[in-house]
Amino acid sequence: MKRIGLKTALLAMLACMGPAMAWDGASVRNCTWCHGTSAQGYTVAPRLAGQRPAYLESQMRSFRDHSRDNPFSKQYMWGAVAALDSRDARDLAAYFATIPPRPANDGDRNLMAKGKAIYMEGIPEANIASCYACHGPNAEGVREIPRLGGLAYFYVKARLEQWGQGYHSGMGTPMPVVARSLGPNEIEALASYLSFVR
Ligand code: HEC
Ligand code: HEC
Repeated sequence: MKRIGLKTALLAMLACMGPAMAWDGASVRNCTWCHGTSAQGYTVAPRLAGQRPAYLESQMRSFRDHSRDNPFSKQYMWGAVAALDSRDARDLAAYFATIPPRPANDGDRNLMAKGKAIYMEGIPEANIASCYACHGPNAEGVREIPRLGGLAYFYVKARLEQWGQGYHSGMGTPMPVVARSLGPNEIEALASYLSFVR
């Protein structure tokens, strides 16, 4: 995704959509343009389909107040949510949450067993928390804790690395502490396993 090309294309698209497509200035198509058809994710833009609505809303807030601050967030999402008010955000979150999510299935199958073991039990001697404790037995999430099952390998891997590099995705969330203890092998295994979870 080239930044300039995308911006131009997006503007051109917005210009020809007209008021009929607009939804308080926030049409779903403004989002699926990047997040893929039926919001299943596309390249660096993650799947939104089936995500917990409270989590989606919390992330739109953190892009808006710039507390989610990794380079992709800055480049793509800070602008995308700038014009949304809290009602638009709630409506969009509720809408995307109802779309059935499809698993990305793009991790390394050989790492599934290892990833699942870490997900379920953590590695107590390495101070690695069990993910299950918060994200649930089937990685389905609850309230502001996101669904992880079926998210794309590269997206989950990048997120886990970014916390370790000091980026944030909101104020006062547990993930920077959780991710700090994960090494590259654990991250690969977890991201692989999660990409296959339905
Ligand atoms: C120009 C491309 C682009 C557009 C347009 C766009 N997004 Fe995004 N979105 C991204 C990228 C890239 C990310 C990943 C950011 C990151 O890695 O931190 C993202 C992340 C998100 C996330 C975080 C998901 C998660 O699992 O943490 C939400 C929520 C989101 N976008 C909602 C929206 C909504 C709602 C719209 C429409 C109003 C929208 N996006 C429009 C590219 C886009
Ligand atoms: C103490 C509760 C807790 C534990 C334990 C926990 N998480 Fe999280 N996780 C959260 C919360 C809350 C969020 C949403 C806030 C944020 O993004 O910082 C989150 C967000 C995430 C995201 C972002 C998903 C997205 O769509 O961008 C990933 C990936 C993730 N966690 C992976 C893991 C993994 C892997 C483990 C186990 C090693 C784990 N989490 C353990 C609470 C937890």
